[in-house]
Formats: sequence, structure tokens, C-alpha cells
Amino acid sequence: MKNILFLFILSLVFTGCAEKNEQDDTAIPNDSAWWKQGVVYQIYPRSFKDTDGDGVGDLKGIIEKLDYIKSLGVTMVWINPIYSSPNADNGYDISDYRSIMEEFGTMEDFDVLLDGLHQRDIKFVMDVVVNHSSNQHEWFKESRSSRDNPYRDYYHWWPAEKGKPPYRYSLFDAAGDAWKYDSITNAYYLHYFSKEQPDLKWENPKVRQEVYELMKFWAEKGVDGFRLDAFQFAAKDTTYPEFPDDLEENFIQYYAMQPGLHDFLKEMNQEVFSKYEVMSVAEGAGRNFKEAHELVDADRNELNMAYAFEGVDIAKPEGYSLIHFKEVFSRWDKEFAEKGWLAVFLANHDQARLVSRFGNDDPRYRAAAAKMLNTFILTMRGTPYCYYGDELGMTNIGFDSISQYRDIAALNGYEKTKASGGDLDAYLTNLKFASRDNGRTPMQWNNTPHAGFTTGDPWLPVNNNYKTVNVVVQEHDANSVLNYFKKAVKLRKDNPLLVYGAYTLLLPEHEKIYAYTREWEGKKMLVLLNFSSEMVPLPVPVNEELEEVLLNNYEQVIYEEGVFSLQPYQALVYSLQP
Ligand code: NOJ
Repeated sequence: MKNILFLFILSLVFTGCAEKNEQDDTAIPNDSAWWKQGVVYQIYPRSFKDTDGDGVGDLKGIIEKLDYIKSLGVTMVWINPIYSSPNADNGYDISDYRSIMEEFGTMEDFDVLLDGLHQRDIKFVMDVVVNHSSNQHEWFKESRSSRDNPYRDYYHWWPAEKGKPPYRYSLFDAAGDAWKYDSITNAYYLHYFSKEQPDLKWENPKVRQEVYELMKFWAEKGVDGFRLDAFQFAAKDTTYPEFPDDLEENFIQYYAMQPGLHDFLKEMNQEVFSKYEVMSVAEGAGRNFKEAHELVDADRNELNMAYAFEGVDIAKPEGYSLIHFKEVFSRWDKEFAEKGWLAVFLANHDQARLVSRFGNDDPRYRAAAAKMLNTFILTMRGTPYCYYGDELGMTNIGFDSISQYRDIAALNGYEKTKASGGDLDAYLTNLKFASRDNGRTPMQWNNTPHAGFTTGDPWLPVNNNYKTVNVVVQEHDANSVLNYFKKAVKLRKDNPLLVYGAYTLLLPEHEKIYAYTREWEGKKMLVLLNFSSEMVPLPVPVNEELEEVLLNNYEQVIYEEGVFSLQPYQALVYSLQP
């Protein structure tokens, strides 16, 4: 590009710019809250840091990395389940809600971890998995032992003499069947996930009290929040009616938000949330906006926020439409602009890596794309959730053979596809792009064997790119994804505008650029994100004068006579003159 020499270079390296944004003192809204202003860092404990050489991450490993976590600037940490578990679903099958998984450590380790987070002013969010327990939980062992056991009614049972129960679809079952026959009492039990994860019967008040007590146990210990796993499925019609034939494709329509759920949440709020300074977030946001509001609007006294899947579900192996992506995020923002609150995220332990799904993991673009996507998460309204490793731009591992996978959903899905004569190649192609194991490979700390994650054999292999994509390398590179991430987090925390400010989408029909403004208390910022691997000319899309570059994931801004040339995956955040 020879005319590049003639272009007016507006600004050079962004380093230092973000530091200029001191905490804005202008009044924050009446309904402000620490959990709205916070930045969440999600840790998959199995994969974060192993200290005892068994190849599985542990609590001591997280303790060892507390200063690293602090250095990111994040203010909340959500750790996936750490309770005792036989690990059919990596901790989402809990066998004792009041103890720590042996592989992860001890309750003493937990206390040290919680204290270490609090000393660093970081809140801790506990994962609560109570739509189901493990089939190894004492409650279930009792429940299945006889029909008149006091725990029988803790789970959903269907006596076999009534014939086969009405079909229920299971998300993880190798046969897709959510009823499992149990010969001990000649009855079927219900499991929406794997057969090792029987659903608890929330309609039984004793179950509810057990759950509130265990939540109080953790609240008393000082945890600051709860993330409710799959809770929108908790209420069930215990007459077990037949469901229409489209159950499998549309299971959310039949399983989510069933009558009784709001009563359970109100009760939980009264019994637990209202008594402690804790925040609450639901996995799933109902089946429509109305239901999402009913979960999180403050006057409902149920939950603080929810995370919706419509946005994160957009990425597909064949690509996705940015116009659609913008439309979805803008629609959700608009709907919650006045009331209610949501999480903003593009990745978690149930998704593949953010840069591989929504950006571009080709080494030429990986770093820029990861920075750009992190800019998006950290400049939208809602509480940002950042998944471990995305601050480095970690990528999908992309397994080729089913034998490489560990995730129960991947393995049982393969069996199901095989049994039904489905296309196994297509299944594997999709898995290579979308599998949850892609997002669960060990954290890449340095360039020693296994990326410094473990001295043993890691439970899941480390991505081959760990020699270049790791914390140590990136800490020493001023332009790394990691250092950019820290600046973006700081910009977010220094500017309530980015938390509370009005969001306005610009250029909704542009196929490559996502542009928007955030505005609050007379201040305004412009965010420009190039979602493509091409250089894109872009006339300045606002009338105001550009004031200062607050974030730039490239060294330069290429700009001439009112037109930017946005470089591949470039992200720019400007303050605008009032
Ligand atoms: C949702 C969790 O995020 C996922 O990892 C888990 O497998 C299911 N719920 C079942 O608990």
C-alpha cells in the first residue's frame, strides 16, 4: 500500500492513553451496584494450574496465581464447581455440596483462596448446581434404595408398572433418553443431563430447604455471589405430560421457565440472597424478553442478572453474519436499557474459544482479533464475563478423533449419532469447531513442557501454540493481547460511562464493521471494531469531533480527511468532544 505514506497518522501507540482516564466522579445511577460495575474472570479449575502433578488443576494452583488474577484488573472471579464429584461432567455432578473435590484440594485450601481473593478486593462467585445432583450423592443413593425411603421424593421417579414414562429428551444421554430405568425399585428416574446427573425434585419443599441451607453454608463462609446452573429447568410438571414431537429440537420451550420456577426463586431470594450481601446470576435468561425480565428486574426480588445465549450461539463452523450479530446484541441491550441487567460474554466453559469462533485464529490475525473481541465485551452495557485464557487469545485445539475428547457431551453425542446412523464425519467436523473441550485446554503459563500447567500428564492436552501464546511471553510484550486486555479492563473500570451509558448502534447494515457509541452524563465514546481480515475504509460515523484515542489494538490509526482505514480486526475506542 504505497499511499500509506500520505496518510495522516492520527495517533501512535495507545500505551498510556487508558491511564489518563481517572475514575469519573459524576453521579452514578441510583440502581448502581458492585456487580454491575465489576468485571468477571471465569476460571475452569481443572485447567488453570496444577500444583501436585496429577495433571488436574487445583485450588492451590489458583492461590499461586492470585497476583496474576489481580494484575488483570478483574474484580470478580467465578470458578466452576469445586465440590466433591465423581466428575461424570467435570464437577457439574455434585456428590457432596459441603466439601471440596479431592483432586482440587481441601476446605482449608478453599478458605485460603477466598481470603486471598478478598485481600485483593476480588469477589468470589460460587457455582451452584441444583437442578440435579450426582447419582453418587447420598440423597440419590437413599432415594433409589426403596420406594418408601424418606429421600424417595427428592428426585423424579416413574414406577415401571405404569409402563414407559412419556418421552423426555436428555441433552447428554447417549440414547437421548432422559428417563433411566433402575431395577432396584423397578422405576425410572429423570435426568435432563447425563444419567449420572439425576434431576432434583424442586416441587418437594424439603429439597428446597436443603438447597437454601447449603447456600447459606457458603454464604456464611463469605462467598459473594452464586451462579445458578441450568436453573431455568428446575421446575417441572410432575404429572409428566406427553410433549409434542419437536421436543428435542425445541426442548428449551418445554423445559425452561415452567410454572413454579418464580416461586422457587422468590423463596430462595428471601431465604438466602436477601440475608447476605451476595449477587446472583442465572445461566439462561428464559425463552423471551418477558421471561428474562421476570428473572432479573429488581422489583421482582428474584435474581440480579442472567446470561442469555442468543448472542453466543451465533457462531457456526461456516461463519456468521456480523449484521445478525449486531442486531442480536443491540436488541438485548435495548430491551434492558431501562430495567433489568444482563451479563455480556462470548465464551465460557461450554463454548469453544472466543477468537476461534468469533474472530480468526490464523496466526496472522489471532492477536488482533482476540484484542478486538475483548474490546467488545469490555465496552458493552452489562457485566462483562471474561473466560480464562481469552486474555491471551488462546485458541481451539481442534481434535480430529473422538478418542481425543473428554467431554461427556461430546462422547455421548458421538454414540448417539452412531446409533441413529447419523453422519459421523459431519459430527466430528462440528465438534472440532464447537466442542467444549476446545475451551477447556490447560492455561498456557509459559514455554516449559505442558505450558507450565502441570509437571504431570495434563488431563487434556495443552494447545501446541503454547510456546508463543503464554503468560510469560505476553507479560514481556507491551503489545500483547494480555497487556491490551489489562488496559481495556482499566478503561472499563475507570469509566462508569462504559457500565451505565446509553448504547447506540451505528451502521447496522455494515457487513464488516461494528460501530457504536456509549453516552452518559454529557460524555460520549465511539467504539469501532473491524470484524474482518481486510482493510476497511470507514468515514467517521459520528458528527462530533474525535477527541482522544482511548484504546487501539494497532500501533497506528490510519486516517485521512475524515476517513479511517481500519486494519484487519482493528479495535478503536475514542472519546468524543462534547
Ligand atoms: C450447564 C453447565 O454450564 C454445563 O457445563 C453443565 O454440563 C450443565 N449445565 C449441566 O450441569
